[in-house]
Amino acid sequence: MIGVGVVGTGNISPLHLRGYLAHPGEARVVALCDIVPERAAARRAQFALDDAAVSAHIDGVLARDDVDLVSIATPPSTHAELAIRALRAGKHVLVEKPMAPSLAECDAMLAAARESGRLLSVVSQNRFRDDLALLKAVVDSGLLGPVASVQVDSAWWRGLAYYDLHWRGTWEVEGGGPTLNHAIHHLDLVAWLLGGPPQSVAALMTNAWHVNAEVEDLSAAVLQYPRALATVVASVVHHGQDQRIVIQGRDAAVTLPWSVRAEHAGGSGHPDAAGDDALMGRIEALRAAFTPLAHHGHTAQIGDVLAAITQGRAPAVTGAHGRRTVEIVTGIYRAAIERRVVDLPLAGDDDWYSGAALLAHAPRFHAKTGFVAEHPAPVSTRAAGWEQ
Ligand SMILES: NC(=O)c1ccc[n+]([C@@H]2O[C@H](COP(=O)([O-])OP(=O)(O)OC[C@H]3O[C@@H](n4cnc5c(N)ncnc54)[C@H](O)[C@@H]3O)[C@@H](O)[C@H]2O)c1
Repeated sequence: MIGVGVVGTGNISPLHLRGYLAHPGEARVVALCDIVPERAAARRAQFALDDAAVSAHIDGVLARDDVDLVSIATPPSTHAELAIRALRAGKHVLVEKPMAPSLAECDAMLAAARESGRLLSVVSQNRFRDDLALLKAVVDSGLLGPVASVQVDSAWWRGLAYYDLHWRGTWEVEGGGPTLNHAIHHLDLVAWLLGGPPQSVAALMTNAWHVNAEVEDLSAAVLQYPRALATVVASVVHHGQDQRIVIQGRDAAVTLPWSVRAEHAGGSGHPDAAGDDALMGRIEALRAAFTPLAHHGHTAQIGDVLAAITQGRAPAVTGAHGRRTVEIVTGIYRAAIERRVVDLPLAGDDDWYSGAALLAHAPRFHAKTGFVAEHPAPVSTRAAGWEQ
């Protein structure tokens, strides 16, 4: 039985707690921690975790011998410090996205994991959805041919109050706007689907109307792969929140929400009206044969982390994957701020790596004005099945 401590018991923590409770034979939540301990106590009551200890400091969790794994669900700027403390105390760590605001912090976390020999996984729960798992299987089947283009709309809508939460809306504490905090899921998915990070990045960003936030509320990035381009729009200004991923291969395209298209060239090279029915049929057959995942989202990723600990293997989403995504985000911000194409990987010896350059050069689009301690629970954080 793997003993679990959950650090940070705010909005996202119920997804961690439900995830562990869905694996009763494998994990038991024995400790809850929040700098506002009343929140941890409220979660203990909400989830009937009567035996779980509550503390106001992570050391209260780390001192316990019955804690093997720590879930970190605190604001991004705290991730590195808390994860490193936990790893050095000999605990495995599952940390919320984004892994950390800077690459230097990500590398410090990776080093702590290496030195302690403990597992480090970063939340990317959208990989564990039936439609994304199917999309990955379709890309890996080769039926699309080599991928030429990926279009991603990370399309969210948030009212002004969203940025009044004390830790949101500043470069120092939140680390960025929807490029970092929403599209991070999609950027992880692009790298996962295409088998690695892009070679270079171009991007523009703005703040369209969130007049109480320093950070961008909209960005558009183009990721260059050797023979493919991925365009990623990151937004909290999109009414309708129509999330979309389109993968265009040489031979066929698949779109989420699901549709398939395969053109067939007539004599002039223009597409026939009918398209390549046989190929579309083979792709649809993959979909028909797809076995839905046993668990989804956080619950599925938590299941993978528990299995990885038991089996002594790497988790599906590693710390290196979390770092890779932060590097793409850093490249997007650098490209938008310096107004040029940025090559990856970023050098380890400059101010973009440490995070100092982002803080020094990021445009403060507006002054952050609101600092509410807590928001009412959102009615829904989902859009077409997506979570962020
Ligand atoms: N995976 C997803 O889809 C998803 C969705 C929402 C948020 N998140 C991520 O989860 C994290 C938390 O977001 P949230 O919306 O739950 O924020 P939140 O503000 O609702 O909750 C954070 C909690 O952490 C506590 N906290 C802060 N510093 C702490 C510390 N040093 N030790 C212990 N507790 C501390 C706060 O008191 C608060 O209760 C962020 O990294 C965010 O990006 C992920």
